[in-house]
Amino acid sequence: MSDPIVVSHVGAVRVVRINRPEKKNALTTAMYAAIAAALREADSDDAVRCVVIAGAPGVFTAGNDIADFLQASERGWARPAVDFLHALAHGEKPLVAAVGGVAVGIGTTMLFHCDHVVAAADATISTPFLKLGLIPEAASTLLAPLYMGYARAFSLLAMGRPLSAQEAREAGLVNTVVEASALDAAAMQAAQEIAALPPTVVKVARRLMRGHLHGAVVERIEAEGREFTELLKSDEARAAFAAFFARKK
Ligand code: COA
Repeated sequence: MSDPIVVSHVGAVRVVRINRPEKKNALTTAMYAAIAAALREADSDDAVRCVVIAGAPGVFTAGNDIADFLQASERGWARPAVDFLHALAHGEKPLVAAVGGVAVGIGTTMLFHCDHVVAAADATISTPFLKLGLIPEAASTLLAPLYMGYARAFSLLAMGRPLSAQEAREAGLVNTVVEASALDAAAMQAAQEIAALPPTVVKVARRLMRGHLHGAVVERIEAEGREFTELLKSDEARAAFAAFFARKK
């Protein structure tokens, strides 16, 4: 079986690719841990100046593995997912996302932590948390209203209405929309543009642009995590997870 997280380098750009297409790139505990490690290693490696997070052709990620949600509902919240969110929030290297096909749940909320998002025209960005009896995570309850405005954030995060790539661009979540076949090249071009900048000033600029939110983001990740842990055990959530796996039967 191929590795579900593949890390490679193109010059000063580290590419972290989610590669579990047979399960729509659903993220397991082990995959969260691997992405978090790849981000932290990038932070401590001076040769890396930008990180691209990408999916497989036609799928960014369908979000948290629902089988893992079911297990976590029995034994408690899976800490590796929260650890991954902290790695995102603490990340010191600029992050570019290449989003094609579906981006669900954490596949959408992680975008609020990226510095530049390129989406394929076929991308659909959604967060069906409430429909699953859960609440949004990744400090999205803080960042989405701030970045998109409350009305758009409520529609996306609470009502679970999906955004097309174009709508996400208009909402300020996506920088550029390209044909699916051009996605990787466009993301790499943006990453190389960032990597070519003097790294010290990139670091300072990011700190000035984002640093004032850092404490609040970290606190919100923890607060959402506590609510999430409780909700995972609820009858509503457990029924929604079971319904997902029963849908084809
Ligand atoms: N967790 C676990 N498995 C998942 C998954 C997830 N989040 N998303 C997809 N899969 C699996 C499916 O169970 C299926 O596995 P199988 O072939 O063994 O039955 C496989 O991936 C393909 O998914 P399928 O639903 O057949 O593909 P699709 O193209 O019809 O639909 C999605 C794609 C993403 C729209 C749909 O799979 C979906 O809604 N997934 C759940 C998304 C979600 O709610 N995530 C949690 C967010 S908080």
